[in-house]
Amino acid sequence: MDSGAPDLPVDPLEILRQRRSAKWQTYPADVLPLTVAEMDFALAAPVAASLREAIERSDAGYALAVPDLGRAIAGFAASRWNWDIDPAAVTAVTDVGVGVVELLRVLTRPGDAVVISPPVYPPFFDWIPEAGARLLEVPLRRGSAGWTLDLGALEAAFATHPAAYVLCNPHNPVGRAHTVGELAALARLARLYRVTIISDEIHGPLVLPGATFTPLLTLPGAAEIAVSVLSASKAWNLAGLKCAAVVTASPGMAAVVDRFPADIRWRIGHFGVITAVAAFTAGEPWLDRLLATLDRRRALLATLLRERLPMLSWHPPEATYLAWLNCAALGPDNKPRDRFLDHGRVALEPGLRFGAIGSGYARLNFATSSEILDQATTRMVQSAL
Ligand SMILES: Cc1ncc(COP(=O)(O)O)c(C=O)c1O
Repeated sequence: MDSGAPDLPVDPLEILRQRRSAKWQTYPADVLPLTVAEMDFALAAPVAASLREAIERSDAGYALAVPDLGRAIAGFAASRWNWDIDPAAVTAVTDVGVGVVELLRVLTRPGDAVVISPPVYPPFFDWIPEAGARLLEVPLRRGSAGWTLDLGALEAAFATHPAAYVLCNPHNPVGRAHTVGELAALARLARLYRVTIISDEIHGPLVLPGATFTPLLTLPGAAEIAVSVLSASKAWNLAGLKCAAVVTASPGMAAVVDRFPADIRWRIGHFGVITAVAAFTAGEPWLDRLLATLDRRRALLATLLRERLPMLSWHPPEATYLAWLNCAALGPDNKPRDRFLDHGRVALEPGLRFGAIGSGYARLNFATSSEILDQATTRMVQSAL
């Protein structure tokens, strides 16, 4: 990775505020939003060019993801992660949420339990009931080195025969890149108790220097009991364009995907496919520069928190551009976040959205400029006093 390259640029605040996306439209103009997982960097040049060229061609019809998307993902996975994917085993879906819900519709019967590990990406709590299944929560374990999968508690839960486990790999909001050993143990348990794992790997490309992303399907024996759901949308900031992919590596799991509704292929964003193909085939140099930039932002945030907000604690994330901050010194539940918003005009994601274990926490999105981080932490200090 070229860590010597200059930081990716971020437009000034008055330009960012012109964006029409959720991050920039949800709060009044005097609030600094460090909320939903969108980045403030400019798009990668090959991605922006692919969109511009499509507009020039008036190419805004229905998407056709086959065969380009599978080939692009397979090429990227091989070079980046040494993961051998069969392009024919890649199925395009609208987004990761749709992919997980459609998988659950096939894998579960009404009322079946599906395990998740809070604190976790809030829609996990919605996707499972949306598919007619029942949530079974097995929280992560908080140790001195950070948050990890609680394999003992997962085994106890798997022994009750849930239909599936939705894994977040790497894990939003704690930023944990689960290790080979942890994932191998998880896959072993899943095989033993016949629990299918849906591995949400949307943050896979966003592993920061010092950590490694392990695609679950690269582990021995995982292919028979697991599927991966991937997207270019987090790492290249394309969430509004609507394209993700379900990846399988065994006939049994391919048969699950074969049961998806036939019409699903018409529900994918055409610009989503075009930009995902551009990102996976030509977006690696930009991704490397992004990761170097995020690494420096993570270090800056560590300094700012230490100097200005010593009452907060955190474990710097190994992956993602999200910081899971323990703000319990400022109050329980969502009180710290409310205080930052009401008194500091800084919006963070409220901890309780990630589960009851998120009481007293807030999630901060640091995929922005040093200036905005500086301003945000200054405002947080003032509201905390
Ligand atoms: C773990 C995780 N999964 C899924 C998503 C959303 O993906 P999509 O917009 O493709 O549904 C996010 C967004 O931040 C996420 O963090």
